[in-house]
Amino acid sequence: MALKDIDWGSLGFSYVETDYSYVSMYKDGKWDEGTLTKDHNITMNECACVLQYAQTCFEGLKAYRTEDGKIVTFRPDLNADRMIDSCNRLEMPAFPKERFIEAVEQVVKANADWVPPYGSGATLYIRPFMFGYNSVIGVKPAEEYMFRILVTPVGPYFKGGAKPVVVRIPDFDRAAPHGTGGIKAGLNYAMSLHPIMEAHREGYSENMYLDPATRTKVEETGGANIIFIKDGGKTLVTPKSDSILPSITRRSICYIAEHILGMNVEHRAVMFDEVKEAEEMGLCGTAAVISPVGQIHDHGNVINIPSGMDGMGPTIKKLYDTLTGIQMGHLEAPEGWIHEI
Ligand code: PLP
Ligand code: COI
Repeated sequence: MALKDIDWGSLGFSYVETDYSYVSMYKDGKWDEGTLTKDHNITMNECACVLQYAQTCFEGLKAYRTEDGKIVTFRPDLNADRMIDSCNRLEMPAFPKERFIEAVEQVVKANADWVPPYGSGATLYIRPFMFGYNSVIGVKPAEEYMFRILVTPVGPYFKGGAKPVVVRIPDFDRAAPHGTGGIKAGLNYAMSLHPIMEAHREGYSENMYLDPATRTKVEETGGANIIFIKDGGKTLVTPKSDSILPSITRRSICYIAEHILGMNVEHRAVMFDEVKEAEEMGLCGTAAVISPVGQIHDHGNVINIPSGMDGMGPTIKKLYDTLTGIQMGHLEAPEGWIHEI
């Protein structure tokens, strides 16, 4: 076993085929025992439920190589729980939590040579997903499902790494009121493809969505939750809404802010009008980690975040260093956060 010969530092966020994926099938009301596979292609009927009616959900977490050479994952139990919530909302059979964690362990272990070295800036992205497999033509859930986990080494989600990004307020919503914004359904990302391409064509990194009912409150971006810092670095504010994905990174950052850095944390509705009071702003998620935001463009109006376009503000930097320090194993983790492979 030897680490793959890859220029880890120049990896972006794109798919690289690795050695093994994990696969389990649901048929006749039960999951089979599951196995590792070297076959990275899937064959299914043209009328498969996922192809016709987008019955699919997914998760995203990472494996990290720590300073002392261990391989760890970060809070995989919360990804398992969130996937169960997604499955319930989409009328899909849940993949049991213990089996989810075991499958993550198996597939990461089998691809250990693909886990980027400590300090390279890259990590192994783990993508569990499930979809309706058998053919349906009337609108109804499938009866057979495939659960899979693929892994792929990744670098920073945004080009330029930790450089502040510019986001815009789009004219589209990513989720409906009382819809599926709170789960990790593939359909939410289909909804975001046109707005994200439009944003990129206009030179923005991401869309900052407002609440779909009133367009007065801040929600999240296409792939990350949002945090704001105010009161001279003493307070973290983060939007609360049923149509926001409950980010595991954001929940962890809030814990760090409150219990490690002694900050006040406000998890509540955030009016878009309030954003101009923010001193620092960040996008947080597994892929985004914490990416600082320097500017928001709202149809010709520009909100300059005081921390600017040169780098992270001091409080976001502290949160980033603490979070990644815990993930990379050089800071002590709160109970249960680090799962050694
Ligand atoms: N919001 C959306 C829409 C996402 O796709 C993601 C990514 O998973 C997040 C937030 C961040 O969630 P997490 O921190 O659990 O990765
Ligand atoms: C993640 O952060 O894991 C996600 O799923 C976000 C996605 C847009 C890459």
